[in-house]
Amino acid sequence: MTTILVTGGAGYIGSHACKVLAAAGYTPVTYDNLDTGWRDSVKFGPFEQGDLLDRDRLDQVFAAYRPAAVMHFAALSQVGESMTEPGKYWRNNVCGSLSLFEAAIHAGCLDVVFSSTCATYGEQDGVVLDEDSAQQPLNSYAASKRAIEDMLDNFGASHGLRSVIFRYFNVAGADPEGEIGEFHQPETHLVPLMLDAIDGKRDALTIFGTDYDTPDGTCIRDYVHVMDLVDAHVLGVKWLEDGRGSRVFNLGTGTGFSVREVVDKSGSVTNREVPILEGARRPGDATALVSGSQRAMTELGWRPTRSTLETMIADAWRWHQNTSGHYSA
Ligand code: UFG
Repeated sequence: MTTILVTGGAGYIGSHACKVLAAAGYTPVTYDNLDTGWRDSVKFGPFEQGDLLDRDRLDQVFAAYRPAAVMHFAALSQVGESMTEPGKYWRNNVCGSLSLFEAAIHAGCLDVVFSSTCATYGEQDGVVLDEDSAQQPLNSYAASKRAIEDMLDNFGASHGLRSVIFRYFNVAGADPEGEIGEFHQPETHLVPLMLDAIDGKRDALTIFGTDYDTPDGTCIRDYVHVMDLVDAHVLGVKWLEDGRGSRVFNLGTGTGFSVREVVDKSGSVTNREVPILEGARRPGDATALVSGSQRAMTELGWRPTRSTLETMIADAWRWHQNTSGHYSA
């Protein structure tokens, strides 16, 4: 069986990627330092604890498993923290990726699927963002992802590294079978915070800003179901296996929903009251971020099937109820 090294495989998206890789006949080997990941979410293949900055450990793991490709999810991803502690983001994300790519090249593993973000586009309100839109990262998290994209480009030209870069919009939902789900500590994302508010684990969800220039005054985002997102990653591995070369793809559905729409849908899906407070805008939030996602559909053949608000919230709620919304280790 073909082995894929999954960095950050103990995280939210990485663990879902391991599940679909295993289902597609690959062996996903998780490499994770467990700083923000959860050992309990590694269920679909071997686990190797290690840090991206530990080059000896990476060399060992590459030699032991001889992966055909790397899926690189491991990263720090809190926008706010990245502004107060940019060094952490440049060290972990950028230097960590440098160490990983050098180890991969050293091992002769030249195919990389990389998790990037629509945050690299910055604030371009009202524009549907496609892969050729200008990248203007506004925070250190996004700048670190942009730098890694550049690194992949340079390493492609000089060392023959081939990469599929996915720029994610807002990822939500959970494994419909309820085996794994979304849990960050601290949690900053809309859907898990809302589910916590719905079942009383927090007093209320604060809506960050109700005076945006949108129909209901709240921010608009393009939400994509985590299972659809990771399906695209399997297509990305196959794209590289087929020798189709380096390519960038947005992953979103092209449809935006406001925070209020997400709140209302959560109330109807869970059949519970959503306690909300109306708060101030969160610094750094763009009014609307919506993906132009034609390229992934036409070139990769990606077909998102679960990315309706209803399904994303229902799947996230199922996991939340199964587990109280958290892992214990
Ligand atoms: N929101 C609230 N209240 C909350 C949390 C979020 O109103 O308690 C709102 C935000 O203002 C935003 C929307 O819900 O309008 C979604 O917020 P998230 O924090 O869930 O997601 P972001 O859009 O901020 O972040 C996502 C990814 C980041 C990425 C960013 C790019 O999670 O990794 O998109 O903009 F950097």
